[in-house]
Amino acid sequence: MHHFQYRDGYLFAEDVDITALADEIGTPFYVYSEATLRRHIRVFQKAFASSNALVAYAVKANSNLAVLKVLASEGAGADVVSGGELQRALKAGVAPEKIVFSGVAKTADEINAALDAGIYQLNVESEPELERIAQIAQARGIAAPIALRVNPDIAAGGHEKISTGKSEDKFGIAWSDARALYAKAGAMPGISVKGVDVHIGSQIADLAPFEAAFQKVTTLIADLRADGCAIERLDLGGGLGISYGEGEAPPHPDAYARMIRRVTEPLDVRLIFEPGRMIAGNAGILVSRVIYVKVGEKRRFLIIDAGMNDLMRPALYDAWHDIWPVANRDAPTTIYDVVGPVCESSDCFAKERTLPELRDGDLIAIMSAGAYGASQTSEYNSRPLIPEVLVSGDAHAIIRKRPSFDEMIAGEVTPAWLD
Ligand code: LLP
Repeated sequence: MHHFQYRDGYLFAEDVDITALADEIGTPFYVYSEATLRRHIRVFQKAFASSNALVAYAVKANSNLAVLKVLASEGAGADVVSGGELQRALKAGVAPEKIVFSGVAKTADEINAALDAGIYQLNVESEPELERIAQIAQARGIAAPIALRVNPDIAAGGHEKISTGKSEDKFGIAWSDARALYAKAGAMPGISVKGVDVHIGSQIADLAPFEAAFQKVTTLIADLRADGCAIERLDLGGGLGISYGEGEAPPHPDAYARMIRRVTEPLDVRLIFEPGRMIAGNAGILVSRVIYVKVGEKRRFLIIDAGMNDLMRPALYDAWHDIWPVANRDAPTTIYDVVGPVCESSDCFAKERTLPELRDGDLIAIMSAGAYGASQTSEYNSRPLIPEVLVSGDAHAIIRKRPSFDEMIAGEVTPAWLD
């Protein structure tokens, strides 16, 4: 469900005309719908409303401060994976007791920042990381609240580059080491063991791998409790897939919640969730303008002014994004390769895509780009980061402005010996 719809043949974000927005701001740019963000976080929270769960939005999906502020105003917590994301969450008004810190390798500075802020929990991914946290917390005279992220060795996720729960992935603590490491953690003065954490991947389209992983974790919790370890929290990560186009029907959060209740009810733990894509993915689109239509020997290229640096998902994961013309004129269709201007063959958004005929100057919208879109951008080819716009009803605001060339190079210094 989202709030991007045609009105009289023109695409709108809520009550805002995308064509007028493009004229005002210049292309390319991201647009987010506040109503969609609110709807998604509410649907997720409602699914677990009876259980006092903590829904900690995965900031990496879309870390714009305004987006975080919208979600914080709905009572969402934050799952952060860096000192920068922690600062963003705090700045957006997320209460520290709703923040969990995930990530493979937290540095001493990041651990100190998390302890300074007094966050809810650090999710620990290795024995050396546990030791580092213990040492820092003990020196401060406190015990850091932690969960160990365990790796259940279960395959899941739409693409090998976003699978995290297999034993050959770098993530989490090996299943066979978990019990011993919990025993070690329990004896460390700088550590307060609170729970177990698991996250098996992203864009997971069915419930079976989740259920298999969560079942495995419940047996671990029983073992840990038998070992005398008090487990009061269970962090089930993120990963619920979204629809990127027709024919895709990922599970509804209610079905996900029913399965989780069935599996975890006997445990009497506080559940934590880290949804990212499910909240932000379909709340955003990337608007771009056709620069040229180039007719090659074998292909017809629609060359647009957005590039792989602006939205990496197709280049990096072969990801499918629906592409909609902003003005829907009922034109006859043609088959295009939709590509960007970046000097890389992988700068391609869609291969052999059937679209209504388009001309240079026309606008297109790349759909479902609200998660892992703007947050994964770069300035490759010296292309300034593109603006982000938030729409609410008939209002809109630029929530990240397009930097000028001078702003883009402001951090670069030419050493005196080159003058
Ligand atoms: N928690 C942890 C520990 C994670 O690593 C992730 C995502 C999430 C939560 C949120 O997962 P979600 O609910 O969004 O699936 N850039 C890739 C996705 C990478 C996901 C990384 N971790 C993409 O564009 O598909």
